[in-house]
Amino acid sequence: MARILITSAIPYINGIKHLGNLVGSQLPADLYARYMRARGHEVMFVCATDEHGTPAELAAAKAGKPVARYCAEMHDVQAEIARGFRLSFDHFGRSSSARNHALTQHFAGRLAENGYIAEVEERQVFSIDDNRFLPDRYIEGTCPNCGYDKARGDQCENCTKQLDPTDLINPRSAISGSTNLEVRTTKHLYLRQRALKDRIAAWIDSKTDWPVLTTSIAKKWLNDGEGLQDRGITRDLHWGVPVKKGDQPWPGMEGKVFYVWFDAPIEYIAATAEWADAHGLPEAAWRRWWRLDEGAQDVTYVQFMGKDNVPFHTLSFPATLMGSGEPWKLVDYIKSFNYLNYDGGQFSTSQGRGVFMDQALSILPADYWRWWLLSHAPETSDSEFTWENFQASVNKDLADVLGNLVSRVTKFARSKFGDTIPEGGTWGAREEALVADLTARLASYQTLMDQMEVRKSAAELRAIWVAGNEYLQAAAPWSVVKTDPAQAAAQIRLALNLIRIYALISQPFIPDAAATMLKALNTPATDWPTDLRAELQALPAGHPFEVPENLFRKITDEERADWQTRFAGLRK
Ligand code: 2FM
Ligand code: ZN
Repeated sequence: MARILITSAIPYINGIKHLGNLVGSQLPADLYARYMRARGHEVMFVCATDEHGTPAELAAAKAGKPVARYCAEMHDVQAEIARGFRLSFDHFGRSSSARNHALTQHFAGRLAENGYIAEVEERQVFSIDDNRFLPDRYIEGTCPNCGYDKARGDQCENCTKQLDPTDLINPRSAISGSTNLEVRTTKHLYLRQRALKDRIAAWIDSKTDWPVLTTSIAKKWLNDGEGLQDRGITRDLHWGVPVKKGDQPWPGMEGKVFYVWFDAPIEYIAATAEWADAHGLPEAAWRRWWRLDEGAQDVTYVQFMGKDNVPFHTLSFPATLMGSGEPWKLVDYIKSFNYLNYDGGQFSTSQGRGVFMDQALSILPADYWRWWLLSHAPETSDSEFTWENFQASVNKDLADVLGNLVSRVTKFARSKFGDTIPEGGTWGAREEALVADLTARLASYQTLMDQMEVRKSAAELRAIWVAGNEYLQAAAPWSVVKTDPAQAAAQIRLALNLIRIYALISQPFIPDAAATMLKALNTPATDWPTDLRAELQALPAGHPFEVPENLFRKITDEERADWQTRFAGLRK
């Protein structure tokens, strides 16, 4: 049994996330966590809301609420939606927690002691009309790298380049739109990433198995232009983790807070501590996941995120952990994703374009979305959500292939043989061939799941469902029963067992349908099936079963057209 630590990029608190956000981190992380648990491993899967920084302040101001209250409310909203999508976090924390405050201040203190913090007199954009500094998202303008005209002061959404507000061309205040700006001097802390560059580069070079998307982005920011830059880690804001050296004040930094991107990844650790607190467990319970000197040397740590998050996770966060000089667990594998586009354009939170998580659940249950999103995950390139494609996948894969098999088999068994699994008959060449085929496919599915090949795993799972349909098509128990009822009984006994196996192995993708299937078969979720010959005979003759409700319904053309129109414009 291995110990696997899984983190998903923590979503910003400002509003409900869209399906593109979901498929870029939380959903594939959940798939992997569910799979690893089902394989019998010890899993710690954490996520949280990312509550600091300008996104939170701006959204709270727009909602007319104090920022702390806004964050508390939005955390509950996001947690509820996560439950709706069956995201199986061990803990869904908050980056504004006391744990994260203490850990963030701890890391800053350690970095300062080790000489990795510089205090810098900085020139910053000050808005005369707003009477305040304009860090990060408080300022917008044209990206100097790609020319995108809505780039934010911290990062260009279009080309992913990390920016400083003073880099922007034609800057304007995001609060008032004012261009009446001037540059003033203020003191800030910088993380001296350049001093850690060789260590970071060697560490990245050692990760030869990482996806190309991850290493190519990391290497770009390590080597392009002037190479890795030192990074400002404090801001002139009110909401955030107050700048302190451990639990000591930091002279000259009064009234400032740490930059959201400094404290956000530390929340991965803090969320694990919050988990321990929530369960009344001692410090050792979370530290054994994170401290190499307290048990984490046995841990495999995997992170999931969209491509825009990669620079922070391959460079800045490792720099924080390495620079602390303490034995913290570094990530072993970073699974990153491209973007999911929406019906001929981009999903956009700021413009409210696309389907948002709450809207999705209001029209169809989680499994429909989970299946489509995971089977179309933007792994090797950006992918696109279209309503036609969604309708086609749901109707074919879920309704025709899997749902239909379950309903045909259970209904036929019930009508011909009653309410228990029938006895009689034996296996022949066809059944042996199915065992061989499924054994090979299951091995391939496992390999793909182990490798986090999300789309390919979905395709293999679908092929496993198809193999069952083909078997039934060829065996045709509905015809055989007329001449040889015992033979038909053997076939249907196998098919009912096949449904159980499908439930066990499909659960990471479609947990609700899997639970319905197991319930219909009156059998609990057990270990991952390994010996398929034995598993196909696990439920014996005489075992009671029921006909479940239809697992999946088809999406009609009218519904598709209606949703297409409803979600074409801006979210109201
Ligand atoms: O891009 C985002 O949504 C960020 N809130 C992700 C932060 S991930 C990590 F650093 F915690
Ligand atoms: Zn750009």
